[in-house]
Amino acid sequence: MEIKDSINIFEDKIKALKSENEFIIPESLYNEKENLKFESLFALSNSYLGIRGSHEEGTKISLPYFYINGVFDKSETFMRELATLPNPLGIRFYIEKELIGIEDCEILEYLREFDIKNGILWKSLILRDSKGRETKIEGCRFASRKNIHRIGIIYNLTPINYDGIIEVESETDGSIINFADAPRFKVKHTVTLKNEKLSDFAGNYIEVSTRDRNLHIGVGSYIDAFKDGESVLGNRNFNSFGEKSLEFADVKVKAGEKINFVKYIAVYTENDVHKEEIKKYVTKEITDFTEKGFYKEIVDHCLEYSKLWDMADIKIDCDKELNKAIRFNIFHLMSTGSSTNDSINIGAKLLTGEEYGGHTFWDTELFMLPFFSYVFPDIAKNLVRYRFNLLDAAKENAQKNGYKGAQYPWESADDGTEQCPAYTIEPDGSCYRCYVADYEHHVSAAVAYGIYNYTRITGDLEFFYNKGIYILIETARFWASRCEYIEKEDRYEIRKVTGPDEWHEPVDNNVYTNYLARWNLLYVKRKLDELKKDNYSLYSHVLEKTEFSDKEAAKLQAIADKIYLPKMAGRNILEQFEGYFDLKDCIIEKYDENDWPIRPDILKELTVDKTSLIKQADVVMLMYLLENEFSAEEIKDNYHYYEKRTLHGSSLSPAIYSIVGLRTGDKGKAYRYLRRAAFIDLLNLQKNTREGIHAANAGGVWQVIVFGFAGVKTDDKGELIIAPNMPEGWKNLNFKIWHNGKRLSINTYDDNSYKIEEI
Ligand code: BGC
Repeated sequence: MEIKDSINIFEDKIKALKSENEFIIPESLYNEKENLKFESLFALSNSYLGIRGSHEEGTKISLPYFYINGVFDKSETFMRELATLPNPLGIRFYIEKELIGIEDCEILEYLREFDIKNGILWKSLILRDSKGRETKIEGCRFASRKNIHRIGIIYNLTPINYDGIIEVESETDGSIINFADAPRFKVKHTVTLKNEKLSDFAGNYIEVSTRDRNLHIGVGSYIDAFKDGESVLGNRNFNSFGEKSLEFADVKVKAGEKINFVKYIAVYTENDVHKEEIKKYVTKEITDFTEKGFYKEIVDHCLEYSKLWDMADIKIDCDKELNKAIRFNIFHLMSTGSSTNDSINIGAKLLTGEEYGGHTFWDTELFMLPFFSYVFPDIAKNLVRYRFNLLDAAKENAQKNGYKGAQYPWESADDGTEQCPAYTIEPDGSCYRCYVADYEHHVSAAVAYGIYNYTRITGDLEFFYNKGIYILIETARFWASRCEYIEKEDRYEIRKVTGPDEWHEPVDNNVYTNYLARWNLLYVKRKLDELKKDNYSLYSHVLEKTEFSDKEAAKLQAIADKIYLPKMAGRNILEQFEGYFDLKDCIIEKYDENDWPIRPDILKELTVDKTSLIKQADVVMLMYLLENEFSAEEIKDNYHYYEKRTLHGSSLSPAIYSIVGLRTGDKGKAYRYLRRAAFIDLLNLQKNTREGIHAANAGGVWQVIVFGFAGVKTDDKGELIIAPNMPEGWKNLNFKIWHNGKRLSINTYDDNSYKIEEI
């Protein structure tokens, strides 16, 4: 292997790539207690891998996770979760045994800048060690969007007031464990198989396998140092300590003279290439990367991001901080979705943190999929195909639980089995038996709704009739078997179920679930009736494949006609579930300085399940999704009723209240909910950003802008409708969507007029 970076590039040209302020999220002070939050905020993903924004030299408080989407493992823990992989970021500089690091030196200057236009994490430091030696370090890191197996880091180091020898150590750390700071969940998901040099000449390589399924993953890296473009690294040494792989060397330095350290990283798994060839591919990737050169790679990477932004950007003429926050959410979403792989989905925390183990929830279909369907339909297609690929698993799941058809798991990983753990740990450390996997069944309706919505938006009938329709039939069958006929009442009910509001579980006849189940039954029936008329041979084919019959169709209709939909007597208010109105009624009366509900004092005496206080949009979520089934007055009445009782314990809630609030005419509140949603992670409003970015909320933010304030809708005939309802003070809003195979740029204005241009 011959390794050399061909050009002398390292300074100004790279720095010139840094974006203007409106795309920069700064961290200008190092506070170790904030470190985990910044690791999530500054995580880089490239649709294949995701790496948290931990510091290269390591810090005391850190969860330095490196994931590849789709690489799951269970071992001793409760669920198959994304396995943290050997982390290749490590770069440490020593002078006379002193580590030049932010926690070891006095920090004279500190700035990290997360560049969301380019997907680059910039860093600039001046550190003073115990002997008064000052060192300047500047550089950046990126996970290449052009070549998704590559990560690059550049560090420009300048000794300000000393000459000497710097020892540089490049590390790949295979000892990292999942949930490192949560004793009950701690687990090591990989076994180290190889820890060796990358080539005879240089570099290091770790190969691990997941413990359950023995999936191999290889991580390689190579470090070099340049002065004026010439390599100046002294003799390289390779060292392996158990699961850590290190390469180190000396570099002579002189005061005021800059050295450019560059680390080239590559990763492959057995999902990409044959397991015997992983190391070969990693080595070739690194060789190609060095030959191409860091600068060319990062430029190509930036070009890929500019193509993504070209489609996904949202521009508001004022409200710059809010605009940046909206972009931040879009950045993370679009960085994670894959346009090439339909065996992976998007976890509730993307690839940015460990909460929920990388699992897919209803969050995908109802919160993220609309964004992808309008903006990146090729990614949306893979998200719906993922559900199709796991249809058989969903059928097995239904069967296991005594139902028919397909029951999608509440939490899904790689094989479609239920991955929601039976226990969770509460913030006070107590272990809590969690029933959502047993009762939260509405995800199957969400998957069905996702198919409907994706098809309506993209017009992808090929997917619909070859794949989607089978999901819809099987989920309808699930609902038919899930509904119980109650003779006394002559109606169908869904008993023992958990709705979106998880603070009341289980309940009977959650009205959200019952409506969505009814919708699923009727939608399938309608689609099959249409198909029978329009394409009889396809209709027969579908019926034959699914062993579906007219008799079964009639049964679906009969259930739908008699499904119980609880409601307050004499009023428009739907009852969230049977018995909800008998609970201790509590209305939120106090709001904090951010206009956010304060938990009512009654919760000191009563547990929340005994009260009418709810976690998140439930009836209001229903009115959002099935808007056409309710009158404007019904939506308004229910919004006002439930808004006063919702504590937004889930990040999924504010965006929905924003859009529905807007539809009921409550523009001021809608805007405040938008701000809450847009800043949820940047300001750590939910207080758990350390666990990862809230992906559903990110999709919700996009929906508020496009479906809410811009009033975009594709109706059931596929027609695009635009009815803006702009917030006070915004003169112009611009965004792009795909419609009917055309790329449209849409401007909406303060007088609620709009302009559509094909581009
Ligand atoms: C919410 C669910 C959501 C899950 C993952 C929970 O707190 O209640 O609705 O699917 O988080 O985001």
